[in-house]
Amino acid sequence: MRLKDKVAIVTGGGVGIGKAYAHGLAKEGAKVVVADIQDTEAQKVAADIKAAGGEAIAVAVDVTSPEKTQAMAAAALKAYGRIDILVNNAGLYSALKKKPFMDIDPDEWDRVMAVNVKGLWHCVKAVYPAMKQQHKGKIINISSGTTQGGTPNFLHYVSSKGAVISFTRALAREVGGDNICVNSIMPGLTISGPNQEGVTSAEQLADRRKSRALQRDQYPADLVGTVIFLASDDSDFMTGQAIGVDGGQHMH
Ligand SMILES: NC(=O)c1ccc[n+]([C@@H]2O[C@H](COP(=O)([O-])OP(=O)(O)OC[C@H]3O[C@@H](n4cnc5c(N)ncnc54)[C@H](O)[C@@H]3O)[C@@H](O)[C@H]2O)c1
Repeated sequence: MRLKDKVAIVTGGGVGIGKAYAHGLAKEGAKVVVADIQDTEAQKVAADIKAAGGEAIAVAVDVTSPEKTQAMAAAALKAYGRIDILVNNAGLYSALKKKPFMDIDPDEWDRVMAVNVKGLWHCVKAVYPAMKQQHKGKIINISSGTTQGGTPNFLHYVSSKGAVISFTRALAREVGGDNICVNSIMPGLTISGPNQEGVTSAEQLADRRKSRALQRDQYPADLVGTVIFLASDDSDFMTGQAIGVDGGQHMH
C-alpha cells in the first residue's frame, strides 16, 4: 500500500472520475475525505469505501465558497489530524453544453471560472497551513487534454483548464520551499458517467479513438494510477508538471 496513513481530500469525489480517484486512493491505504457539492453522492462513496474495508468520510462542499472550503479542511483535520493530499478534481464539465463562443452567456463564463479556477485556489488556501506544518504535501490539479487540442465550442471550459496549468506552475514555485509538490493532469476525453452524452457525441468518441496511439475509449480507471503516483512518495521530486493521460492523443 503506497498511501498508508496518508489523508487525501478529493473534491468532486462523489461521481464520475473523482469517485474513481477516491476509491483508488483508499485501496492504496489513504484515509479519504470525499468532498462534493452533491452531498448524497459523496456519502455513498464514503460508505462504499468503508464497506470495502477502507477509511473515508463525506463532506459537503461548494468549492466556490472560502468558508465551505475552510470547513472541508477543518473536517479532514478533525477526523484524521493531517492533510497529505489534495486532488482538485471538482469542475464544471458534464454540466456544460458545448456552444460557439458568441453564444456563451457572461454569467455562465463566470461560473466556469469560479468553479474550475478560483475553486482550486480556495481549496489550496484551506489545506496549505496543514501541509506547511507537516513540511510535505501533494496537490494534484485536474486540467484537461482540451488545452492541448484547442477543442472548439467550449471556450470557457478550455480557457479555465489552461489556467489550471499556469496555476499549477506558479503555485509549485511558491510552495516548493515547504516541500509541497503541485502537479496537474490533462485527461483525454473520458467516459465518466451518464451525463457525458450532454458534452460528447458518439462521433466525437469515434474520432477520439482514431486520434490516439492507443486506439480505444478512455475510462476513469485509466487516470487513477497517475493520481496515486503523484500522491505517493514515488513522485517526491516532481513538481510544476502537466501530465497528459490520453492514450497518446497529444505527445508533449
Ligand atoms: N470526462 C472527461 O472527459 C474529462 C476530461 C478532462 C478533464 N476532465 C475533468 O475531470 C474532472 C472530473 O470530470 P468528470 O467527467 O467526472 O466531471 P463531472 O462533471 O461528471 O463531475 C464533476 C464533479 O465536480 C463536482 N462539482 C461541480 N461543481 C462543484 C462545486 N461548486 N463544488 C464542489 N463540487 C463541485 C460535481 O458534483 C461532480 O462530482 C473535472 O474537473 C473535469 O473538468 C474530465
